[in-house]
Amino acid sequence: MQSITLKRPDDWHIHLRDDTYLARTVGDAARYFGRVLVMPNLVPPVTSVELAAAYRDRILKHAPSGFSPLIALYLTDETSKDMVAAAAATPFTPAFKLYPAGATTNSAFGISAIEEMFPIFEAMQEQDVILSVHGEVTDQEVDIFDREAVFIDTILSRISTTFPALRIILEHITTREAVEFVQDASAKVAATITAHHLLYNRNDMLAGGMKPVHYCLPVLKRNVHQTALISAATSGDSSFFIGTDSAPHPRHAKENACGCAAGCYTAHAALELYTEVFEAEGQLDRLEAFTSEFGADFYQLPRNEDSIELIRQDWQVASALTFGNDELVPTRGGDVVRWQVRTGDRPPLSDGAI
Ligand code: NCD
Ligand code: ZN
Repeated sequence: MQSITLKRPDDWHIHLRDDTYLARTVGDAARYFGRVLVMPNLVPPVTSVELAAAYRDRILKHAPSGFSPLIALYLTDETSKDMVAAAAATPFTPAFKLYPAGATTNSAFGISAIEEMFPIFEAMQEQDVILSVHGEVTDQEVDIFDREAVFIDTILSRISTTFPALRIILEHITTREAVEFVQDASAKVAATITAHHLLYNRNDMLAGGMKPVHYCLPVLKRNVHQTALISAATSGDSSFFIGTDSAPHPRHAKENACGCAAGCYTAHAALELYTEVFEAEGQLDRLEAFTSEFGADFYQLPRNEDSIELIRQDWQVASALTFGNDELVPTRGGDVVRWQVRTGDRPPLSDGAI
């Protein structure tokens, strides 16, 4: 049977939610990820090191040893230079997450006037704290399929030229324009790519009937963009690396006649889904760098030392998963995934290790 061994991968963009949902989300992610960068869009949002420390403790109650959550702090109009200094001094808060106000799930506390954040970006640049960006404008006049490209043109290019030494990650990119922007930018600018944006395009979501399971933000684009993302992810360019954006919502919030919640749940099979993409491209030898090296290098953290093994074996994803007192429909639910991670014992975390 075909098998692949990879250095243990990390997930540089995940939503674990909170409380009763953590058993599901942490259990699934900890099956194979070493570090995860947890997004802060809880209600209320995780805006400070103190809130992040408390959230991290709640996550760790559900985690096996060896699983290390890092927390992105939520950037708001209230973020101060002292809060940037506190993040810089804390090993588990490597980044601030910029949500344009109203762009996505729980982004009401996000940024409305970007220029007003420039003193904070200056402080982040000085202290080498990463700016993680949800790259979409929110103007009602801008077509939802163009919102990422317009954000890059009107906002991101301005931030990156004004702060050339600031490390920036354009999260969950979905367009050819985003790929080209990152390719042309300095080594300070990188992007994460999700498994679902590599596997699907807007036809999968819309043709033959709207499929809530595929609705996420930024929304799936046409197939030329999907092709650009696949090329970038499998190119061996270190500016592109894994970030699943696994973002669960209960079934009743997605299959809702009054508006479908945005987010795809992939943590149950993320690594296997990425593997399918690299296999289809004939680039399995580049999978490890994408999943286990480029992200750690960009975050200036050591690559994981232990490894995991994937075997080429079909398995059927459950059509629904338990999610606290709710259920959720996972990506590929009811269908076959072609690779499977063999789980193994995880080594204990050494004291203070991230
Ligand atoms: C995310 C969520 O549900 O928290 N949703 C999504 O569609 N990706 C938020 C986000 O990352 O945009
Ligand atoms: Zn996200």
